[in-house]
Amino acid sequence: MSQQHTKPPSATLAHWSKPDSDPPTIVEGEGCYVTDSSGEKHLDFIAQLYCVNAGHGNETINDAMAEQLSKVAYVSSAKHNDTRDKLASELAEIAPGRLSDTFFSISGSEANEAAVQIAREYTGAPKVLTRYQSYHGGTYGAGGLTGDPSTRAALEPYGGTSAGRFLPPLSTAFDAEGAELAQKAANHLEYVIRNEGHETIAAILMEPVAGTSGAYPAPEGYFERVREICDTYDILLIADEVITGFGRCGEWFGIETEEVEPDLLTFAKGVTSAYAPLAGVLVGPEIAANVREGGYDLGQTFGGHPVSCAAGLGALSVYRDGLIENVRERSSHFEHELRELERYDAVSGVRGRGFLWGVTFGEGDEPFVDPWVEPEKENPVTEVISEAADGNVLLGGGRPTTQIICAPPLCAGREEIEEGIGGLSAAIESVFG
Ligand SMILES: Cc1ncc(COP(=O)(O)O)c(C=O)c1O
Repeated sequence: MSQQHTKPPSATLAHWSKPDSDPPTIVEGEGCYVTDSSGEKHLDFIAQLYCVNAGHGNETINDAMAEQLSKVAYVSSAKHNDTRDKLASELAEIAPGRLSDTFFSISGSEANEAAVQIAREYTGAPKVLTRYQSYHGGTYGAGGLTGDPSTRAALEPYGGTSAGRFLPPLSTAFDAEGAELAQKAANHLEYVIRNEGHETIAAILMEPVAGTSGAYPAPEGYFERVREICDTYDILLIADEVITGFGRCGEWFGIETEEVEPDLLTFAKGVTSAYAPLAGVLVGPEIAANVREGGYDLGQTFGGHPVSCAAGLGALSVYRDGLIENVRERSSHFEHELRELERYDAVSGVRGRGFLWGVTFGEGDEPFVDPWVEPEKENPVTEVISEAADGNVLLGGGRPTTQIICAPPLCAGREEIEEGIGGLSAAIESVFG
């Protein structure tokens, strides 16, 4: 028997939805702003999902995509295409150190899975180490690499995990700061490696600056020690640059701000400024030769889609044309404005790099509510995000949401930075009084 259903206004099942959540319908975007279906304009202080780096409605990227469509819309990922090859060449030019060849993919999750597969095939070792409180994707493979308990709680009952974990270099984990923290956290990583059996480990995968998990940079010296440890034990270092790539931290890639060279680098989001889905893995000549000589039995239909690659070429030209410079010029003003928020008792810390910043809430190191421990409890930090959205400033919830992330498009000027932080400040006052 057929039943009568009342159709909802939107039949889309949203990603990362909470029970009964009602996200806005965004219909237009220009620069740092988006407009919803009721005509309200919002400052996009999170570049949607840390990805619209060039801002909305960029003509250069739109035109590049339209031109590709008029030539050929799709070419098999098993064949070569001039636009795809051109993007690979441009990526090789801007990539750190000896990284030279790109295996294109579609999403950040799939790029991380491909990087792990390439690293496993190269080393012959099965294991990968990732950090607790990390996010590397939401598909089964990448979700298994993710350290974030809410993602793992959704997947692990059905899939299990594919990674060993170690603690991130956070003062809360090691009760230390600065050089002491760098040393303790690196020693701990070495301890994990020796206990797992270094010959069983293909790679260590981590973000140069932790993105959604708190926008925290590592203490000085940490990455240098990690690089040394990887070299000592013949373990590959994979930099997940899905958020930190393409100018977000003030350099083309976040790992450059640490002056360390990874063996593989994964990217997504900002490569096209999110105008079309595209991701990839950059590798050096030895690993590239291993893939070419040995062949690679896996692939995806839409890996390196020509229209996405055209968007990538457009986006790179926009970044070259002053956007990365804009991040460098404005990041100290950004930091200065954010640090003013430390005057609120409810704000326990501010940290970040470039245009990627996190604001933590709580009393000292103690959050008001840890949603990973007490998911049912009302969380004032979630209220701050909703209040700011009501004031037309869109912010990101950190993982866990004891923190708020600010990551506007890289074209944000002084006014937008002040408007965004002003909106956050007003929301803090409204929630905490
Ligand atoms: C650091 C990092 N890696 C990987 C991913 C997964 O990317 P995607 O959502 O494109 O699969 C994300 C997504 O936010 C991310 O932040």
